[in-house]
Amino acid sequence: MELPVELRNGIDSLLSGFSAEELKKISRQLTDRYKNDSGRGNVLVSRDVESRVYAAVRMPATFGAISDALTYVQECMPETQIRTVLDVGAGSGSGAWAVEEIFSPEHITCLEREESMRSVGNALLRESSVLSEKTSWAQFDLSRDPLGNESPSDPSYPSDPSDSSDSSDSSGQPCTADLVLASYMLNEFSKESREKAIRKLWNAADRILLIVEPGTKEGFAVISQVRDILLSQGAHLLAPCPHEGPCRLSDDDWCHFTCRVQRSKLHKLLKEGDVPYEDEKYSYIAFSKEEGERAQARILRHPYITKGQIDLEICGREKNGKVTLRKKDEAYKAARKAKMGDAISNISL
Ligand SMILES: C[S@@+](CC[C@H](N)C(=O)[O-])C[C@H]1O[C@@H](n2cnc3c(N)ncnc32)[C@H](O)[C@@H]1O
Repeated sequence: MELPVELRNGIDSLLSGFSAEELKKISRQLTDRYKNDSGRGNVLVSRDVESRVYAAVRMPATFGAISDALTYVQECMPETQIRTVLDVGAGSGSGAWAVEEIFSPEHITCLEREESMRSVGNALLRESSVLSEKTSWAQFDLSRDPLGNESPSDPSYPSDPSDSSDSSDSSGQPCTADLVLASYMLNEFSKESREKAIRKLWNAADRILLIVEPGTKEGFAVISQVRDILLSQGAHLLAPCPHEGPCRLSDDDWCHFTCRVQRSKLHKLLKEGDVPYEDEKYSYIAFSKEEGERAQARILRHPYITKGQIDLEICGREKNGKVTLRKKDEAYKAARKAKMGDAISNISL
């Protein structure tokens, strides 16, 4: 997967003027902070230069993961039109770029707590005339500010009255959107405060809520928490799971997928890597207000292809298991082109 060319150019110009050594140092500091300081509700990126480096280092991967997850959502609701989007904890805006590629909505609202992130995100979106016209940014703290049809009883709402807070419509009511997206954000909350945040996000979704997290054990724990809370509220699970029963993975396993993103020269420099691509591991979950077409089965690991045979590990509607497909099997042709994370039909476990 490639970043849109305007975004790639925008990121390059954001970092021109900084020395490579300084950028590499900040990149290492951010990596440490995300590794050691997440999950406690702490602010992880706040300085302008940190937000610029975040954009350069993480946007290719988060753009790729969100785009992949949106594609899977679209497969489950092929007829649904997404006109409005709320990207909560939007960071430097990768969600807006991904949503534009997949759904091309009429309006996107990016809600973000940190000023430096909003400013970098806004600068990048201005590289695209289409996105800059349809996207607005607002200062917003998911821990404090009302969202969806919550009443703005909190006296701190809106967080900053001088801000053009697009988390409310012209009547002052907090707004909702067809699609609510929160990517790589909920893991920054503590487990206890996350529960309320999840309910708020669901409340704001008129049709679909999509949560994307790192494809790690910790990221998957967030996804599992979202799954449990929303299933208990009667939400319809869209993807990736083919079923709404208890997850059948063992405690030491976690459901994640991979997307390959091309790396720019700048990215290779900042991450001190040689290969021309990066494989981003991500986990996601999507819920909808109306029932969608859930996958019959989903491929959990990289397909193992040998001559005339494909071995798949599958999560199915009734059970999980391994399947060997041969040329005579109905699903063989589709499986040849499939990758880990894809839905697959006509499989019997
Ligand atoms: C790791 S970044 C992810 C940014 C973007 N969604 C992406 O996928 O690239 C997490 C973002 O969530 C924001 N954030 C964290 N807690 C928040 C909160 N309580 N309210 C709003 N934004 C929050 C952070 O400021 C940061 O920009």
